[in-house]
Parts: sequence; C-alpha cells; structure tokens
Amino acid sequence: MSIIIRTENESDFFQVHNVNFIAFGEREDEARLVERIRATQNFVPQLSIIAEDNGEIIGHLLLSKAKIIEDEKRHEVIVLAPIAVRSDYQKQGIGKQLIHEGLNRCKELGYYLVLLIGHPSYYPKFGFRPARQFGLELKQFEVPDEVFMVCELKENELKNIKGELEYPRAFFG
Ligand SMILES: CC(C)(COP(=O)(O)OP(=O)(O)OC[C@H]1O[C@@H](n2cnc3c(N)ncnc32)[C@H](O)[C@@H]1OP(=O)(O)O)[C@@H](O)C(=O)NCCC(=O)NCCS
Repeated sequence: MSIIIRTENESDFFQVHNVNFIAFGEREDEARLVERIRATQNFVPQLSIIAEDNGEIIGHLLLSKAKIIEDEKRHEVIVLAPIAVRSDYQKQGIGKQLIHEGLNRCKELGYYLVLLIGHPSYYPKFGFRPARQFGLELKQFEVPDEVFMVCELKENELKNIKGELEYPRAFFG
C-alpha cells in the first residue's frame, strides 16, 4: 500500500462524494456539505485534500474559511469539516496524514487558527484544544466545551483573536 496525499481536482468530485457517503455510514449529509462549501467563496482548493491508494480515493479532508466575530472586527479563520477515511482503510494513520498535511497547508497560506467540532479523543494529538477557555464562543451549535476545539498555528494568535465563531451558511443545508 502506498498512499498518496494530494490536492483534490474536479475529476475527483464523484469519488470524494462516495468516500464521504461511505465513511459516514451511507449518509449523504457530509458529502453534500462538501459540495455546498465548494460552491462558495469559503472554498480554498488547496485545502480540499485527498488520500489515494492505487488510483482510488480512500480518504478526504476539507478545510474552509469561516469568521470569528469580535465586536466590529471580523477575523478570517479555518474550520475543519468533514474528514472521512473509508472504513477498510481506517486506523492506519491516513486521517493523521491528511490532518498534518492540512494544517501545514493552512500555515503556508497564512491561516493560523483552525477550529472544529469533533471527537475530544482524536484531535488533541494534532494540537487542538477546547476553544472556549481562550475566549472563543460558538452559539450556532449547542455543543459541550470539549468538542469545540481550536488549533493555533502561530504563537500568540489565540491572544490576539477572541470572539464568536460563525460557520458559513453552507453548513446549514
Ligand atoms: C475519523 C477518521 C477520519 C479517522 O481516520 P483514520 O485514518 O482511521 O485515523 P488514524 O488512523 O489517523 O487514527 C485513528 C486511530 O487509529 C490509530 N492508529 C493509527 N495508525 C495505526 C496503526 N498503524 N495501527 C493501529 N492503529 C493505528 C490511531 O492511534 C487512532 O487511534 P486513537 O484516536 O485512539 O489514538 C475515520 O475514522 C472516519 O472516517 N470516521 C468516519 C467519519 C467521521 O466520523 N469523521 C469525523 C467527523 S468530521
């Protein structure tokens, strides 16, 4: 098995849909979310990343733009969602490779805060920490403190940015 991690291109869209559909238990929601985000200005092509084995797409990660609202200020940040690895390829470090690549690319592109709602046992190893303790808020989704997380990719970024994360409209169907 030799896994290639690369940027998604248009000819991958069909397989990316299927990977999300299958990984999320034959549910269309996440596959459709990816399609809605792609159609907006929050989509950053280099942040739609796939894992490929032998020409077949077996994993996908999407990071896209969102805002943190601090009084009259708007800070551009990145949200991670969704991530999917086909079940027969899980627990082999592919999710990890996708996230490492995604975070490196965010940094290269000058995005220094990445936020997500996710499993509290999976994301801390990549540097994600509960976000509310840093003065960040999320009101659109009612979630416990430990699942709303942030990863700081540049020192002091969390000192400079506070406020409410606003997921774009694409996240609401
Ligand atoms: C979440 C998800 C993307 C993780 O992908 P993955 O490729 O299995 O992730 P990894 O292999 O990097 O890590 C998964 C686990 O396998 C372990 N693992 C990694 N490499 C391993 C190896 N070579 N041998 C055994 N275990 C390994 C990791 O330690 C990790 O366990 P831990 O979280 O308890 O520490 C995948 O499970 C998935 O698609 N789930 C369904 C969709 C979903 O829920 N997405 C997240 C919400 S957006």
